[in-house]
Amino acid sequence: MPLVTTKEMFERSMREHYAIGAFNINNMEFIQAITDAANESKSPVILQVSSSAIKYARINYLMKMVEAAVESTNIPIALHLDHGPDFETCKMCIDSGFTSVMIDASKYDFEENVRITKEVVDYAHSHGVVVEAELGTLAGVEDEVNVANDDARYTNPDQAYEFVQRTGCDSLAIAIGTSHGAYKFKGEAKLRFDILAKVKEKLPNTPIVLHGASSVIPELVDMCNNNGGNIPGAKGCPDEMLKQAGENGVSKINVDTDLRLAMTAEIRRVFNEDPSIFDPRKYLGPARDTIKATVSHKINDVFCSANKA
Ligand code: G3H
Ligand code: 13P
Ligand code: ZN
Repeated sequence: MPLVTTKEMFERSMREHYAIGAFNINNMEFIQAITDAANESKSPVILQVSSSAIKYARINYLMKMVEAAVESTNIPIALHLDHGPDFETCKMCIDSGFTSVMIDASKYDFEENVRITKEVVDYAHSHGVVVEAELGTLAGVEDEVNVANDDARYTNPDQAYEFVQRTGCDSLAIAIGTSHGAYKFKGEAKLRFDILAKVKEKLPNTPIVLHGASSVIPELVDMCNNNGGNIPGAKGCPDEMLKQAGENGVSKINVDTDLRLAMTAEIRRVFNEDPSIFDPRKYLGPARDTIKATVSHKINDVFCSANKA
């Protein structure tokens, strides 16, 4: 099956109330681990590439490796640009064969976000590619937050409606309390499901996207820290909350940090347990297995997209 857009996978996810995992890729091990896990679970999957991943791995290498994954599996796979910073980067990915792009103009004011997003939508749609856009701010955990401005950074449901009408974007990333990286919450984890419900009420047919949605798996954090790592107090979005999000209108859940942790934890364990190892296959192989197990867990137990291919 060739690369697909996210259109049909999102339509079914909205009808049947589950989410599709969007996993960031940087090299061959990530691509094989994610697509093998999805294939074994008969799940649709989104492979996403950030502009810094493109800089690192080079777009032509990524395209060929994704092509190989598509040939080796029998599931719907979408290739998506994560956090496209501008029109030019989106255009480059569309011209290279991506089936989906994100234009992230959320740092600009509303009107400028609309203008940039619309420009990308027009180009993408004329090339059969779908567009994810973002409205709202995914706060860093260290941001100074006071009650007066707290609500301002979450997505405003009325604005979300206007934004989708005016831009024609195919899916919308919203801010309901998640954030990128391994330190998501200072205290207790909390997501604004009330805002999600209001957005879905206004936009029942628009797939909603959750960024910064790694659970920062405690076992992997411990494995890192017990083998020479130093990431104390790392904390993510609990699985139950992600499951709840998938059941309540979130169609795409983004995961990068958990896969980085899986790879790093496993490599640290191998090095710590056998310092004589210097054949990269002896640590990248186990790292690939641990990434695959992590993706499998999410697909089967959290996002519930298994057997939806
Ligand atoms: O949301 C951002 C992703 O985790 C990608 O991060 O730009 O370091 O590749 P990156
Ligand atoms: P995490 O840092 O929580 O994995 O989020 C990844 C993400 O949102 C990629 O766009
Ligand atoms: Zn993101």
